[in-house]
Amino acid sequence: MKKAIYPGSFDPVTFGHMDIITRASQLVDELVVGVLNNSAKNSLFSLPERVSMIEEMTRDLPNVTVASFNGLLVDFMNEIGATIIVRGLRAVTDFEYELQIAQANHVQDERIETVFLTADFKYSYLSSTIVKEFASYGGDISHFVPQCFIDRIYQKYSQKG
Ligand code: PNS
Repeated sequence: MKKAIYPGSFDPVTFGHMDIITRASQLVDELVVGVLNNSAKNSLFSLPERVSMIEEMTRDLPNVTVASFNGLLVDFMNEIGATIIVRGLRAVTDFEYELQIAQANHVQDERIETVFLTADFKYSYLSSTIVKEFASYGGDISHFVPQCFIDRIYQKYSQKG
């Protein structure tokens, strides 16, 4: 039984994340999308909002669940019995940071392996930060996130303004 976690901030979840979730779910028995509850990070969306957006997006994937976690990823993985971390690599610029985290997590617990999936070419530029940057100026984000999230994202900026 291979249980993997795809951890991240998902603020908000994008088509790029969804592509990795879909492909990773085909490689393992169970995939948990782990949403980091990082109080130090000033998130646009609350933790419950981020979780529910991913739940909506992954509804049709039967072996995918969504959970939030605090603290160290390796501790959460032990709690839920996951041994594989899935991360997406968009470009070589992601690599240095990801390599460091993967090695540090493996040193923490040698049963834990990180598996990298290369982002689909059409999403190699995409990040939650790009979504927020375009949305904050009222730009077109329809290529980045599902239609049903667009108003929710814009609304965050109209509340602020
Ligand atoms: O989407 P992100 O923000 O790049 O995801 C980063 C994440 C959540 C994978 C990473 O920050 C993480 O695992 N944080 C939990 C705390 C932890 O375990 N830190 C040690 C490894 S950085």
